[in-house]
Amino acid sequence: MSDLVLVTDDGPVRTVRMNRPEKKNALTVPMYAALVDALDGAGASSTLRVVVIAGAPGAFCAGNDLQDFLTATRSAEGLAPPLIGFLHALARAEKPLVAAVCGLAVGIGTTMLLHCDHVVAASDARFSTPFVHLGLVPEAASSLLGPRRLGHARAFSLLAMGRPLDAAGALAAGLVNTVVAPDGVEAEAMQAAREIAALPAQALAATRRLLRGSPEGAIRRIDEEAAEFKRRLASPEARAAFEAFLARKR
Ligand code: COA
Repeated sequence: MSDLVLVTDDGPVRTVRMNRPEKKNALTVPMYAALVDALDGAGASSTLRVVVIAGAPGAFCAGNDLQDFLTATRSAEGLAPPLIGFLHALARAEKPLVAAVCGLAVGIGTTMLLHCDHVVAASDARFSTPFVHLGLVPEAASSLLGPRRLGHARAFSLLAMGRPLDAAGALAAGLVNTVVAPDGVEAEAMQAAREIAALPAQALAATRRLLRGSPEGAIRRIDEEAAEFKRRLASPEARAAFEAFLARKR
């Protein structure tokens, strides 16, 4: 397992930490592969009951690595298989997912939260999905789960217009459950995880299945979005947006 993703098991709770703070936890292909292993491993475990997804102080996740996206514009492959694998793993996750969000949550850093069952955010959290500004489309089934969770108008503002939400806005919109001080996020998330882990296992699993429904709709939407994403990655407007970001400090 790469040290860009740290996995720690503590009793029934697995913590999966994105660990590339110098790049604000922008996700690379090997990181997606490690995240898939961590989620699938938790799903297969008879002792693990809950997964906590965490990032770094000030940076939950800055979204997909834009250098990787720029590289993808030069190939005909579209989204890398480990990325799609991660999105499928989120949709199919068998154990409840709790997120501990500090600081920025960009792109997939926000859309992955739509698959989480409980989200704890720091008061400094900021959620943004600048897909359209980058010449892209939403992913991770956010075009399906976003309107369901937030309502169409708020989903359009976030996912199409790219308007960010601060912690209070995300709480009001129903994207997060709780907002606490930045230094209390992980403790609060762990407390929620332990509370969930202590529930009767079979009743919880059945309840979660009823609440989430079949994952197949989300899987289909992930694949539809990925097909459009592939076309967008090949577009001049996307390439120009990635180059502009990567050139901004030169
Ligand atoms: N892909 C690749 N590198 C990224 C990145 C990304 N998504 N997000 C941040 N980084 C890198 C920066 O290039 C910088 O690297 P450097 O120190 O080698 O120059 C480092 O992380 C720190 O980022 P920086 O921009 O200096 O931090 P900041 O606090 O000023 O801004 C962000 C943070 C996240 C607002 C800004 O980096 C940003 O907008 N990133 C792009 C987010 C994005 O569009 N993601 C894709 C969504 S689909």
